[in-house]
Amino acid sequence: MVQSKIRLEHVSASYGNVEDQNVVQVLRDVNLDVREGEFVSIVGPSGCGKSTVLNLAAGLWSPSDGDLSGSINVHHSERKQTIGYVLQKDALFPWRTLIKNVEYPLEIAGMPRRQREELAREWINRVGLSGFEERYPYQLSGGMRQRANIIRVLAYDPEIVLMDEPLGALDAHTRMVLQQQISDLWSASRKTVVFVTHDLEEAILLSTRVILMTKRPATVSASRAIDLPYPRSIMNLKLTPEFRSVYENLWNEFCGLLQ
Ligand SMILES: Nc1ncnc2c1ncn2[C@@H]1O[C@H](COP(=O)(O)OP(=O)(O)O)[C@@H](O)[C@H]1O
Ligand SMILES: [Mg+2]
Repeated sequence: MVQSKIRLEHVSASYGNVEDQNVVQVLRDVNLDVREGEFVSIVGPSGCGKSTVLNLAAGLWSPSDGDLSGSINVHHSERKQTIGYVLQKDALFPWRTLIKNVEYPLEIAGMPRRQREELAREWINRVGLSGFEERYPYQLSGGMRQRANIIRVLAYDPEIVLMDEPLGALDAHTRMVLQQQISDLWSASRKTVVFVTHDLEEAILLSTRVILMTKRPATVSASRAIDLPYPRSIMNLKLTPEFRSVYENLWNEFCGLLQ
């Protein structure tokens, strides 16, 4: 049986303090089961609680923030780094070159210099950034920085990768190039991924399963397996009747959530 990696059961959450009447209820009875090797996208209106779900999965919830009920389980093996978290805003250090940024988590993990340099170069090459190793973040385009942001997490080989709208701020063309790279990296590694986006098309193109969330207080309104084969060509897939049919199927439901 395929192992469950992240499981949220009946999770409700709110921010703020009940006493000062400033409570925002964010999640309401959320049930989510992400199994090993799935690429699950979470789609929902802005402000509905998608980032909150990722933060809960990453264990980044501080009880003083508000109220939390239900159970959250993250399963991982003993040996490995558990969770990698790619944030929407790139979190590169401005004072480190591209390669030194990618090396940073490996350095923290105590990997010897030669080995981590080699590994960082491999990843830089894999996403077409060779030649830019010694550049600083301000010398890179938005798309290049976001690529660096993503490979910095993948290079340390976490068992589960969480991505919070990593392509949200990019122009349409750069975005498609990066969607293809994410899809290729995933088909090669079959890692467990939870990917947050507000873009339904992007979710279907990349995922093995799409989860729709309602507006706040959010709950899961649909969970659909996307039965399209890998490896996928993002550019071509968009034009196929198979894709259109999945898209149209989810579109009405997606629009219903915005009402
Ligand atoms: N630390 C916080 N304190 C108070 N309210 C918060 C906090 N974080 C998020 N919120 C509120 O919770 C709601 C959901 O936030 P978030 O999970 O970031 O949504 P999404 O990622 O779907 O846009 C928003 O309305 C936001 O204003
Ligand atoms: Mg968010």
